[in-house]
Amino acid sequence: MKIDVLSLFPNMFAPMQESIIGKAIDRGSLSFSVTDFRDYTTNKHNNVDDYPFGGGAGMLLMAQPMFDAIEAIKENDDKKSAGHVVLLDPAGKKFDHTDAERLASYDHLTFVCGHYEGYDERIKTLVDEELSLGDYVLTGGELGAMVMIDATVRFLPDVLGNRESATGDSFQDGLLEYPQYTRPADFRGMKVPEVLTSGNHQKIAEWRLKESLKKTYLRRPDLLEGRQFTKEERDLLDDIKTELDEG
Ligand SMILES: C[S@@+](CC[C@H](N)C(=O)[O-])C[C@H]1O[C@@H](n2cnc3c(N)ncnc32)[C@H](O)[C@@H]1O
Repeated sequence: MKIDVLSLFPNMFAPMQESIIGKAIDRGSLSFSVTDFRDYTTNKHNNVDDYPFGGGAGMLLMAQPMFDAIEAIKENDDKKSAGHVVLLDPAGKKFDHTDAERLASYDHLTFVCGHYEGYDERIKTLVDEELSLGDYVLTGGELGAMVMIDATVRFLPDVLGNRESATGDSFQDGLLEYPQYTRPADFRGMKVPEVLTSGNHQKIAEWRLKESLKKTYLRRPDLLEGRQFTKEERDLLDDIKTELDEG
């Protein structure tokens, strides 16, 4: 996968060189590059922003450097494309697990990060979708882009090694993850649930499913709405509700 980012603050992307994403870049499974809008200004003061028409607080990123930066990405690409272009915007669709999985299916993504008060609306003609990190306003799109890239790249084959696996992760099958433990089995008197050391894989799988359902039911019941429950899940959920009612 190829990922391009357009930003006024390229140094903010230093963390992308670390850990699993850094390794994916080193191995060549991922190509990552950041373009600075400022390199594409044509005015003599190198300004990238200007006052909003109609007045009001703050400055807006101008259309010209943004258009030229995207056009430069297209020019440098084998297919003369910027791939699927995502604009970071608090008014966009709220990014979630399914978006990460969907974005992972593109071979080229470009993230456009706003700053200051935002951008000239006309840059929206360049983008395929607008995504938001959540219902709050960040100073710029950089942190949002990094979160989205991290969550997306985890879905690429060969990115997660043995130490990390997406299997069983929260949201993977629409449920939150069950509790996990590692050695020792008894730490300061806190014992690991016996079933996990029993070696009975069927019982372990059943315990995990039940714990996932219980956590999801208690913390994120919205995730269960509209779920097509299997008979096993339905029976386990009935047991959970009875156990909770009985205190
Ligand atoms: C200070 S914000 C501008 C907010 C804009 N005036 C508004 O009220 O919607 C600057 C930039 O940060 C990014 N940004 C801020 N909050 C975000 C969020 N929740 N999700 C995604 N991007 C965000 C966007 O790229 C935005 O253009």
